[in-house]
Amino acid sequence: MNSVLHSPSLCEAYEPYFRIGAALSSRLIADPELAEIICRHFSSITADNQMKPDSVLNLDATLAQGDPRHAAVDFARVDALLSFARDHGIAMRYHTLVWHNQTPVWFFKENWENDWNAPAAPKEILLARLENYIRDVMRHVNACFPGVVYTWDVVNEAIEPGQGGPGLFRTRSPWFAFTGQDFLPAAFRAARENAAPGQTLCYNDYNAFEPVKRNAIMDMLKPLLAENLVDTMGMQGHYVLPDLNVSACETAARAYASLGLKLQVTELDIHCNSNDEAHAAALTDAYRSWFSMMKKLSQEGLEIEAVTFWGVTDADSWLPGFRREPSYPLLITADRRAKPAFDAVLDVAKE
Ligand code: XIL
Repeated sequence: MNSVLHSPSLCEAYEPYFRIGAALSSRLIADPELAEIICRHFSSITADNQMKPDSVLNLDATLAQGDPRHAAVDFARVDALLSFARDHGIAMRYHTLVWHNQTPVWFFKENWENDWNAPAAPKEILLARLENYIRDVMRHVNACFPGVVYTWDVVNEAIEPGQGGPGLFRTRSPWFAFTGQDFLPAAFRAARENAAPGQTLCYNDYNAFEPVKRNAIMDMLKPLLAENLVDTMGMQGHYVLPDLNVSACETAARAYASLGLKLQVTELDIHCNSNDEAHAAALTDAYRSWFSMMKKLSQEGLEIEAVTFWGVTDADSWLPGFRREPSYPLLITADRRAKPAFDAVLDVAKE
């Protein structure tokens, strides 16, 4: 296996079809060799954590401001990645404005109390906080880094069939608990009002290929589409070997596209708990058939904005922590070599 720095560029190979992206952090781009790998192979980047609400919202500054409807935002971590993207001519996805996870508890509470047992602020105040926050973030990003962000994850993970709520909504999310479904159009309206021309608004979710979840997502998106509030379906793409069902992914992608949505795969990885020869071969086959399917859809005219890996090398994947077992899910090894799966994905582009 060769060092991935000498491999042909992944994103150049896929340029006719879609951007190729990677999730990363400031820690990764501080490593010069990794920064070079990122610039060579990826034409889109996503912050793995630095643009989430808990990384942007600032409690002390919010308390000092003394406005119950307006949280204060701190852009230091956001700007660090946007500067890297701008300076290297790489486009950026903004992940994510609204999520049930990684959002500080005080954002939902009366008097900004940092305590789950404190009473929630009234719905009308929560929706005002949400709109102010979305506007502040989008205006800052678009004013200070024009042209860098091409797409916004407006809402992440609102459907969860396992929670049994009406419409299969994720009823245990604080957003649902405290505002019902109202945060959805409120967030997308605020995003539409503040988006720059050409930026797409994305709804993002995992297991978006599963038929039950897919249908619930489509039902949720239809009224938003009727108001022209959403442009893109983001299928996260956290898959597992040997269960990856490429034809279910294809069926779901076509179903979303049939509503008039563009597509992105926003968080691609294929969990694989060994790197022995048999597993490496299975990973290679899985990536080969998945990318062949995506290339075919693009050639048929489905608008696929980007396919983004959730990490650059196996060393920085979130999966060993999340799954509590080893994982070798990406195309680049922990010691920064191209796996056979990397070469297979390149070959698919050239076929
Ligand atoms: C993950 C990050 O990679 C981890 O570092 C963090 O501890 C938890 O979140 N779906 C998403 C991503 O939308 O934001 C998640 O990222 C992975 C699942």
